[in-house]
Amino acid sequence: MSLPTDLTVARTRTELAAARAALEGPVAVVMTMGALHAGHARLIEEARRRAPSVLVTIFLNPLQFGAGEDLARYPRTLDDDLRLAAAAGADVVFAPAPDVVYPDGDPGVRVAAGPLGTVLEGASRPGHFDGVLTVVAKLLHLTRADLALFGQKDAQQLLLVRRMVRDLDLGVDVVAVPTVREDDGLAMSSRNRYLTPFDREVALVLQRALRAGAAAAGEGPSAVRRAARDVLLAEPAARVDYLALVDPHDLADVPEHHRGEALLAVAARVGSTRLIDNVPLVVGRPLD
Ligand code: PAJ
Repeated sequence: MSLPTDLTVARTRTELAAARAALEGPVAVVMTMGALHAGHARLIEEARRRAPSVLVTIFLNPLQFGAGEDLARYPRTLDDDLRLAAAAGADVVFAPAPDVVYPDGDPGVRVAAGPLGTVLEGASRPGHFDGVLTVVAKLLHLTRADLALFGQKDAQQLLLVRRMVRDLDLGVDVVAVPTVREDDGLAMSSRNRYLTPFDREVALVLQRALRAGAAAAGEGPSAVRRAARDVLLAEPAARVDYLALVDPHDLADVPEHHRGEALLAVAARVGSTRLIDNVPLVVGRPLD
């Protein structure tokens, strides 16, 4: 299949500036690292609903990968990505090489995620969120987007982007999009491509644990944590990194007397793949 002709692909800053200048505002941006799937498509479709122009960025950002992480094997599927982005409603795709984004190499000046960047994902991946926020800030400036859409799948990233926009007065509207799942409940992820058929079965335990936790929401925090943990313990092939029930605004563990909004988040290694998932819930309110 040939590449879509109604899509403008920009590889350089000059090409992006020209493509951006031709767009009718407001402009919505969806930032991705490629290997696009139906979760990314949902973000692009939602962008299309909310803005007359949609710009998608595809950039595998080396700055957010630690030593020993999966940067080298991360799937690169640009032709398929361009087709998916066009079909979902993108007008422009910005797909720069690393030296376009970082012409002087790794930047000396970076955005510091602060304390929220050191817990949960940040505890396992030091520096990860500094790398994420630095590239998000750069891409917001380069695309001059009016709104930016992010997935609830990466709840901590979403929270930190919101916080950065507020703390640094970036003046962009941030829109959250609920997690898109496979029919069996597995959260869509570019990393699901690494899973063997065996891993793929094991991976379902994340979603089962979150569902069990959410089902216990009416009984309080320790019941939620216990229900989710019991499900995880029953699947030794999933090596749990963390299971946490936290306040969605500051990511602090919720105390036992907590009632109201909370986020149940899990990370686990399945085979050679690290997976994350989460579910927002209301503690003290039984599931409908
Ligand atoms: P990536 O993992 O490619 O995800 C791009 C966007 O798609 C993020 O906002 C992410 O939360 C969202 N997304 C991924 N899977 C989803 C799913 N199953 N349902 C809904 N949304 C989903 O996140 C990144 O890239 C990078 O950190 C980035 C923000 C692009 C900075 O490099």
